[in-house]
Amino acid sequence: MKKITPAKKIQGTVHLPGDKSISHRAALLGALSTEGVRVHNFCGGADCASTLTCLEQLGASVSLSGTTLSIASSGFSSPAGPLDAGNSGTTARTLCGLLAGTKGVTAILAGDQFLSKRPMMRVVKPLRAMGARISGTALPLEVSGSSLTGATHSLETASAQVKTALLLAGLSADEPTTVIEPLPTRDHTERMLAHLGIPLYLDGRSITIAPSKKPRGGEWTIPGDFSSAAFWIIAAAILPDSSVTLPGVGLNPTRTGLLQVLERMGLTFTVEKTGLRGGEPTGTLTVHSSRLRGTEVSGEEIPLLIDELPVLAVAAAMAEGVTEIRGAMELRFKECDRILAMAKGLSALGVKITELEDGLRIAGPSKLTGGRVSAFGDHRIAMALSVAGLAASSPVEIEDPECVGISYPAFFSTLEELSGASVLP
Ligand code: S3P
Repeated sequence: MKKITPAKKIQGTVHLPGDKSISHRAALLGALSTEGVRVHNFCGGADCASTLTCLEQLGASVSLSGTTLSIASSGFSSPAGPLDAGNSGTTARTLCGLLAGTKGVTAILAGDQFLSKRPMMRVVKPLRAMGARISGTALPLEVSGSSLTGATHSLETASAQVKTALLLAGLSADEPTTVIEPLPTRDHTERMLAHLGIPLYLDGRSITIAPSKKPRGGEWTIPGDFSSAAFWIIAAAILPDSSVTLPGVGLNPTRTGLLQVLERMGLTFTVEKTGLRGGEPTGTLTVHSSRLRGTEVSGEEIPLLIDELPVLAVAAAMAEGVTEIRGAMELRFKECDRILAMAKGLSALGVKITELEDGLRIAGPSKLTGGRVSAFGDHRIAMALSVAGLAASSPVEIEDPECVGISYPAFFSTLEELSGASVLP
C-alpha cells in the first residue's frame, strides 16, 4: 500500500527512464545483430528485464551496467526451460515473431497471471499464415522455429507489438512481408531497423520488409519515455503554480498524441527539439499549470496515446466541461481492463465518470476527494491514480503500488522530490 498526500504544486526537472518500447527493441535487434548493440538509458523496469532474461536463456550475451546495456549473440539455441515474459505483452508477442523463423530452436513462452489472459491470437494467426509452428492459443505457447513464407497481412487491430512480431518474422522469411495497419501505430521498430541498416519500404500504412542480412550493430542513447513523462506533464498541468522540465524526452510523433490532445484542452508548454537518438526525435519539454477544458478523443488519435489514456482521464476530471474518449476498446486488453480500472478508481475519488463500451465520459471539473483505490496490478493505473492523489483534498491510498516497477521503478521517489508530498508505506 502507498498513501499519496495532497501536493500544493510540483516543480523541477525530471531525468526520465529510457523508453520501454525502444528498450525492448534495442535488446531484440541487438541480439540479432552482427556486432552487437550498446545502448545507454536502457529502461530499468521489470518488463525490459523480462526481455533480457528471455534473450539470455536463448543464448545471447547480456551485460547491464547501470542503465547501459551491451547485447550480442552468435545465434540462438533452445532454452532449457520456459521463457518467462512476466507481465510484458511486448516481450511475449515480439519474441513469438522472432522465434517463429529461428530454425532449430523450440521454446515455450509463458507469462504471469495477467499476461496469460491477454490475447495472443492476434500474433499467432498471421504468423501461422507464414508457416510458423506455434501450438496453443494463449500463453503458454510453444514455438518451433521453421522456414517462413513472406505474406501480406492486413491487421485487424492497430498494434505495434503485432507489427513488430511480423516484421521480425519477415527478416527470416523467403519472400517480402508486408504489414498494412488499420491506423498508424508507434514506429520504433521501423526506425531502429533503418538505423541498423535494414531497408524497409514504407507506403502510407503499409510497411514491407525483405528477407534480409542481419542488422548491423550500434551505440546510442535511448530517449526518455514519453509515457512516463505523461504523469509529470499532467501533474504539472492540473496543480497550481507548477512547472516541470523533461530533458531528453522522446518526441516521436507516433507517441506524442497526448500533447496534441492537451494542447486543445488548453495546455501551456514549450518543446525544444534537440535531434535524433538512434533515429528517434528527442528534445526538452517544459509544461506549466494550465486551465484545461474538456475535449473529444477518438479514431486515429487513439493509438498515438494509447498508454496515456489512463492519466488523460485524470486531466479530464480536472478540466472544465465534458471529455469523451471513444474508439479505445483496446484499453480493455492491456495489463488490466483500463477502462474499468479508471472508471472505478476515479469514481471512488468523487469524479463523475461513466464507463462506455469503448471508452470513458468524464464530466469536470471535479473536486477530488481522498480514498482507497486499486491499481488492478497495472503500473499505469497505479501512476495515474497517484497523480490524482496529488490533486485530491485528502490522501489517496493505492492498494497494490509495487506494479509501478514494470516501467518506472523510481516513480514514487520522483513524485516526492517534485511535489514535496509524502508517499507513505
Ligand atoms: C507497445 C505497443 C502498444 C502499447 C504497449 C507497448 C510496443 O501495445 O500499448 O505498452 O512496445 O509495441 P499494442 O501493440 O498491443 O497496441
